[in-house]
Amino acid sequence: MVLPWALAVLSLIPLLDAQSPACTNLTAVAPITNATLDRLSGKWFYIGSAFRNPEYNESARSIQAAFFYFEPKHAEDKIILREYQTTGNKCIYNSSYVTVYRENGTLSTYESGREHFADLLLTKHPKTFMLSASWNGKKNVGMSFYADKPEVTQEQKEQFLDAIKCVGIHESEITYSDEKKDLCGPLHMQHEEERNKEEEGS
Ligand SMILES: *[C@@H]1O[C@H](CO)[C@@H](O)[C@H](O)[C@H]1NC(C)=O
Ligand SMILES: *[C@@H]1O[C@H](CO)[C@@H](O)[C@H](O)[C@H]1NC(C)=O
Ligand SMILES: *[C@@H]1O[C@H](CO)[C@@H](O)[C@H](O)[C@H]1NC(C)=O
Ligand SMILES: *[C@@H]1O[C@H](CO)[C@@H](O)[C@H](O)[C@H]1NC(C)=O
Ligand SMILES: *[C@@H]1O[C@H](CO)[C@@H](O)[C@H](O)[C@H]1NC(C)=O
Repeated sequence: MVLPWALAVLSLIPLLDAQSPACTNLTAVAPITNATLDRLSGKWFYIGSAFRNPEYNESARSIQAAFFYFEPKHAEDKIILREYQTTGNKCIYNSSYVTVYRENGTLSTYESGREHFADLLLTKHPKTFMLSASWNGKKNVGMSFYADKPEVTQEQKEQFLDAIKCVGIHESEITYSDEKKDLCGPLHMQHEEERNKEEEGS
């Protein structure tokens, strides 16, 4: 997805240092409930991320801007994902689904024939969330940050910075998206018009 998703062979949770003050406001979500899925429903903007894993690090740095829609299917433990990603000055649209593993708070997607996992982390702010990756332990930690608007408030950003600090990454290593570089506007508008027409027709 928008992420890059990471191969979470190990859960991030045991890696969080509960003693560190930066970790106090970070809650891993397990289990994921219907209420959690409702909270994730809607339009989200990718704000920024930091990944130790070189593959995800490079991929994250290639994303100029991204936004997406989450449409939860509660009974199927799935979330339909429609994403608009600008990379290399091109808009790439993809529609796929995310599998929800409710018990352990993990989300996954299939890409390039592999299942990619991420742990869902909620902040005190209902209008933001984070996904964390921890592949092969501490040396591959990573985290990405999403909000319901392309610009976050200082308070929202602080929560992400705390989370990043909590996993031992420096602020300067974060890559941010830039809404001004978004090239998916026209395609998104076209899709919205098509959806409106379908609704009128039905
Ligand atoms: C969560 O559960 C699923 C299904 O049992 C498993 O495939 C996945 O590896 C688990 N994720 C973590 C982080 O333990
Ligand atoms: C946790 O959140 C509260 C309320 O937003 C804030 O006052 C506090 O400073 C935060 N703690 C840390 C360690 O950032
Ligand atoms: C990502 O890669 C860049 C360039 O190699 C490096 O400077 C940065 O520290 C890496 N980020 C993380 C979180 O490791
Ligand atoms: C969650 O929602 C689904 C679909 O609406 C429903 O079948 C299920 O019983 C709900 N689960 C709980 C715990 O409410
Ligand atoms: C979009 O989907 C195609 C085919 O499933 C996949 O190869 C590609 O990596 C996806 N692109 C993004 C940005 O997710």
